[in-house]
Amino acid sequence: MIITKLIEDNDELQTLTKLQFAKDIAIGLTAKPKIISSKYFYDTKGSQIFQEITKLEEYYLSRSELEILEKIKNILPDLIGKSEVDIVELGVGDGHKTRVIINSFLDKNIKVNFFPIDISAEAMHLLEKNISESKNLNVHAVVAEYIEGMHFAREHSKNRQIVLFLGSNIGNFSKKESQKILKTIKSILKKDDFLLIGFDLKKDIDLMTNAYSDHEGITAKFNLNLLERINSELGGDFEVLNFQHRALYNPELGAMESYLISLKEQVVTIRELKKKFKFDAWEPIHLEYSFKFLEKDIQDLSIDGGFKRISNFKDGNKYFIDSLWQV
Ligand code: AVI
Repeated sequence: MIITKLIEDNDELQTLTKLQFAKDIAIGLTAKPKIISSKYFYDTKGSQIFQEITKLEEYYLSRSELEILEKIKNILPDLIGKSEVDIVELGVGDGHKTRVIINSFLDKNIKVNFFPIDISAEAMHLLEKNISESKNLNVHAVVAEYIEGMHFAREHSKNRQIVLFLGSNIGNFSKKESQKILKTIKSILKKDDFLLIGFDLKKDIDLMTNAYSDHEGITAKFNLNLLERINSELGGDFEVLNFQHRALYNPELGAMESYLISLKEQVVTIRELKKKFKFDAWEPIHLEYSFKFLEKDIQDLSIDGGFKRISNFKDGNKYFIDSLWQV
């Protein structure tokens, strides 16, 4: 597997990434209410904890999507109808879902060039456990933000592309951001290329809430890891036991929201920011939106993005949709 790092490739870029993190933390912890973007969850440890989340009983999303992919795996090679395909994946997990898709092409003797794109280099190593190169499979991993990585893949891709945007990753973006990302994806793709995109559907509120507050506390560990990241990368002195993870469904937004709640009045110093941040007792830090969708929301997004919607594939419980769109 070739790994191209567009983010950490040189010291200058690494410093820029850290500066951006520092800046966002300074702004976010000064804001009222306090807020930190969920994109900062995914350092090495955060990526590993996220993989644990995907295996939890309560986190139905991964299981439901795997069921769909198993069901539809043979549709894609037939749709492509070529002897070689380029699969681009935005935000990779440990590759066990992607493997289902890739194998469906390999089983039909279609050559696959796979371009996984993720901001975490660690995610690429997790991927290696499940996806290894073979005669008909080339893997070229790109450590980059999605759009930057897609441009890179486009430059190195000669065949029809299928972009995989699985796991309801789109749900972590606001509606405006999602519309912008989808339009940009379309502008990078060529005519007849495909996008297979996962959406978690609106459903019973307890089911959704439990998926983000599992009884083993893995999701809590995932959220609190962000404070540990600030401690280790920016010299913070967060006492993680003084914060509690809470996930709530906001029916007006149609999103699960994750917070860390300060359990007491406290002051946190972040050395590299040369700043102290005061927390009131019970004050929240907003960390994440996970938007949930109706079928009509999916349709609206596809129309807005300028794609043709081929089909919506659901799991047996109708918890999740993988929607196939074409340029
Ligand atoms: C990556 N993303 C789609 C996950 C989600 O469901 O929003 C992240 C996550 N946060 C808590 N649990 C999982």
